[in-house]
Amino acid sequence: MVRILRLIDACATTLLLLGTILVLLFFNEPQNISTPQSRPESAHDQHNHDRRPAYLKEEDHNASHKTFPSSNWQLERWRVSQNLTLRCERNAMFENVSGFDSFSPMIQDFLYYRHCRSFPIILDFPDKCGGDDEPEDVFLLLAIKSSPKNYERREVLRKTWAAERSYKGKVIRRIFIVGTDGSGFEKEKLNKLVMWEHQQYNDILQWDFKDSFFNLTLKQILFLEWMDRRCPQARFLLNGDDDVFAHTDNMVEYLQSLKDNNGSKHLFTGHLLKGASPIRNPNNKYFVPPQVYKKNVYPPYCGGGGYLLSGYTALAIYKISAMVQILPIDDVYMGMCLAAMKLKPDSHMGVKTLHWHIPSRQVDKYDPCYLKDLLLLHKFLPSDLYFLWQEVRNPNLSCSDT
Ligand SMILES: *[C@@H]1O[C@H](CO)[C@@H](O)[C@H](O)[C@H]1NC(C)=O
Ligand SMILES: *[C@@H]1O[C@H](CO)[C@@H](O)[C@H](O)[C@H]1NC(C)=O
Ligand SMILES: *[C@@H]1O[C@H](CO)[C@@H](O)[C@H](O)[C@H]1NC(C)=O
Ligand SMILES: *[C@@H]1O[C@H](CO)[C@@H](O)[C@H](O)[C@H]1NC(C)=O
Ligand SMILES: *[C@@H]1O[C@H](CO)[C@@H](O)[C@H](O)[C@H]1NC(C)=O
Ligand SMILES: *[C@@H]1O[C@H](CO)[C@@H](O)[C@H](O)[C@H]1NC(C)=O
Repeated sequence: MVRILRLIDACATTLLLLGTILVLLFFNEPQNISTPQSRPESAHDQHNHDRRPAYLKEEDHNASHKTFPSSNWQLERWRVSQNLTLRCERNAMFENVSGFDSFSPMIQDFLYYRHCRSFPIILDFPDKCGGDDEPEDVFLLLAIKSSPKNYERREVLRKTWAAERSYKGKVIRRIFIVGTDGSGFEKEKLNKLVMWEHQQYNDILQWDFKDSFFNLTLKQILFLEWMDRRCPQARFLLNGDDDVFAHTDNMVEYLQSLKDNNGSKHLFTGHLLKGASPIRNPNNKYFVPPQVYKKNVYPPYCGGGGYLLSGYTALAIYKISAMVQILPIDDVYMGMCLAAMKLKPDSHMGVKTLHWHIPSRQVDKYDPCYLKDLLLLHKFLPSDLYFLWQEVRNPNLSCSDT
């Protein structure tokens, strides 16, 4: 079965490549796409200084033109540029996979588009890490998976643990990674919302794909591809969700304390899970049928709420990911990429992401004293995050030793 799937995948890739060439020839217009297959092209791209999509470039012609147009000309432009970009075609061959009809629409959808890894970028900020001319020595890059509608979460993160700053002389930068949500007017509204946010904060990367649970791995790969191009010098990366409490001060101290690793060696640490099995119950959110993942055990991986990794490991994962077929569960997929490179994820006591197969334990996670010495804990409401961030950094906080 796996061999058949591989074969199908290979066919799809070939078709995709042919399609790309045709589209590029036809429109004779370089697009802002970059797939692992088209690496040579994007390497060539690097000589081209400004690689932002056209709809973002235009307004820079006049730097004093800061106010946003009341018309939606930018969205219009984006729609046109999108039209020229290759759209990923559904791979109908999967309809022949045994049991296909019995799968939920979500899994069917996943199989149809599993081979798609390249989507048009809608919001970018090429100089996030200083750009090609003046690369900034970013110590900790916070790559936070969000959804267009999670406005409140992003707002509170900007004010709390994900604030861009220097701590102990180390530069912290933040990026939210989103796709698109809804359809029709709703989709346009949400796209506009993140566009406004990005206009103000320069902290959103958005690609035009459906921001769904089963597309999280796609989101991760697109981010790593971006990092490879725009921020390869980042020493360390926190990859996490937008509802966690990440004690970024403690993280900087912990990463600084690694004597023999300045980001140029392997590091991947978090809430380590070993020997976990794919869920075969179709009613479970994490259901993965054997047609999607055949083996009965996942490689070791770190819970996706948040984990820390070195720049070295992030880029290594990106490179190997071209050979690793997409699994919809993004944290497991990271484990699969590590396994493919014979690298091991590690366990950090300070990262607590309760996961689906860990029976949830009643701890008083709202106690600032409990959080003071941790690195990461999930999940919290925005108001709790704000409260806790103030409290854990309050010098007056007195905690009895236990
Ligand atoms: C930029 O905009 C300002 C104010 O709208 C205008 O006075 C100026 O001529 C513009 N410059 C260019 C190069 O278009
Ligand atoms: C996209 O292309 C199609 C076919 O060429 C055309 O009919 C449609 O109007 C285009 N849409 C936009 C927004 O340009
Ligand atoms: C499915 O298999 C049948 C018989 O092998 C074949 O005729 C058909 O074209 C296949 N469908 C797709 C979408 O590949
Ligand atoms: C992932 O995104 C693509 C592009 O928007 C979409 O066609 C596909 O249905 C999505 N997959 C899932 C499983 O949501
Ligand atoms: C990081 O450490 C390696 C040795 O492990 C060294 O070769 C490299 O120059 C260091 N990089 C920076 C930017 O300090
Ligand atoms: C800490 O306590 C001092 C003395 O009681 C008080 O003046 C100060 O405002 C407190 N700081 C915070 C952040 O609560």
